[in-house]
Amino acid sequence: MAEGGKPMRLWGGRFEGGPADALTRLSVSVQFDWRLAPYDLLASRAHARVLQRAGLLSEAELDRMIGALDDLEAACKSGSFRPTVADEDVHTALERGLLERLGSLGGKLRAGRSRNDQVATDLRLYLRDHIRHIVSRLVELETALMSQAEEHAATAAPGMTHLQHAQPVSFGHQLLAHVHPIARDVDRLRDWDRRAAVSPLGAGALAGSSLPLDPQAVAEELGFDSAAPNSMDAVADRDFAAEFLFCAALIGVHLSRLGEEIVLWASQEFHWIEMDDAYSTGSSIMPQKKNPDVAELARGKAGRLIGDLVSMLTTLKGLPLTYNRDLQEDKEPVFDAVDTLLLVLPAVSGLVSTMRVNTQRLASSAPDGFALATDLAELLVRKGVPFRDAHEAVGHLVVWCQVNDTTFEALTEEDLAKISPHFVAATGEGAAGEGALDVLNVQGALASRKAYGGTAPDRVRDQIIALREVVDGQAAWASGS
Ligand code: ARG
Repeated sequence: MAEGGKPMRLWGGRFEGGPADALTRLSVSVQFDWRLAPYDLLASRAHARVLQRAGLLSEAELDRMIGALDDLEAACKSGSFRPTVADEDVHTALERGLLERLGSLGGKLRAGRSRNDQVATDLRLYLRDHIRHIVSRLVELETALMSQAEEHAATAAPGMTHLQHAQPVSFGHQLLAHVHPIARDVDRLRDWDRRAAVSPLGAGALAGSSLPLDPQAVAEELGFDSAAPNSMDAVADRDFAAEFLFCAALIGVHLSRLGEEIVLWASQEFHWIEMDDAYSTGSSIMPQKKNPDVAELARGKAGRLIGDLVSMLTTLKGLPLTYNRDLQEDKEPVFDAVDTLLLVLPAVSGLVSTMRVNTQRLASSAPDGFALATDLAELLVRKGVPFRDAHEAVGHLVVWCQVNDTTFEALTEEDLAKISPHFVAATGEGAAGEGALDVLNVQGALASRKAYGGTAPDRVRDQIIALREVVDGQAAWASGS
């Protein structure tokens, strides 16, 4: 920020002395709200046109006004116009820029609007724009997870509950289980956008304007679906910020859960994946270390995203209508959440798309921990044994294996017959001809889970086809088509 000149304020007519330094320091927000400048300029152009249509600016004045706003925008972009510490906020800084270019004509733009409806409009415009960047980054992560899932649709892996081996699953199925939450996140952001597409401009400070402005025309020009139907709600409402922050916090939670899994998968104990060097870090003291910092930071950032949401809700709670200066606190959590997501998502996508999956290790550990026990119990059910008894019989088999220090896979027909005659293949019709040794194989167990939503490799491939259609639609939305 440039050195300050004479303090620039949009108020002061009724004040005899200047503000105390302590107040100025407390009040100033331009150091963080400057990023709203492009949106403030957009809204200013729309407002200038409405003033002209209302007969409050001549055609020639409008031309000069638009020319000066364009010039100011170029100067902001090139950095030749910068806010100074003497500008209270982005609106103040830009009005100074306009006055520098237009003299007293610049002062006409403020008619019929207030910083209260301006700032609410700017923040909505900023977020509606950035949501699309965030969705693009989410689509990249979905795509990275889906390519790995496609490659590993038939890779057996230990499926866990309580972090204990439960039943074998397709590793692709597990990766897709991280895509669905992200797809819902994108859906939520699109739904958010529908509600956020309401323009506060025209509400003025709180009561609307006595000037013949046209809030609906301004709304349309700025890409909103409609103008706010209540000027008091228009300037007081920050639901759109809170709701966005909830979406961001939940994305953070989803990235954190994925991050935690990757941390486990990359550990010596699991050894399911090998991270690419480009997406792992070393230790300053232990030369052998390869650390999953990307996944850990993804997990860690969830904390600040949740904090941003809590901060916003706490600011809003108990505020009387309408605008209160507390609302200036809405911006930093929103900007922080946007920045955090745009920082974390590309790193997580890179980590996922470059990780190498240790298919051998996954396949060999898939049956560990007697993970095919349910398949055995279901075999008995197919033979007419009540599930309760089947569960008990398989439980005995597990204990027998533990006592004899062996695994299901090493069992012989004689061993099985000792526990229950049902485990042994009997001659006869259908399932009666199946024996335990027929179901004790992981690929068979996966393939048998072929009902909709199951982990059979064919179902996983169907899931990918369906998800691709969803994700293509999301990518098109993000790019504005
Ligand atoms: N910087 C203020 C904010 O972010 C702009 C609105 C100030 N309005 C006012 N009446 N003081 O909320």
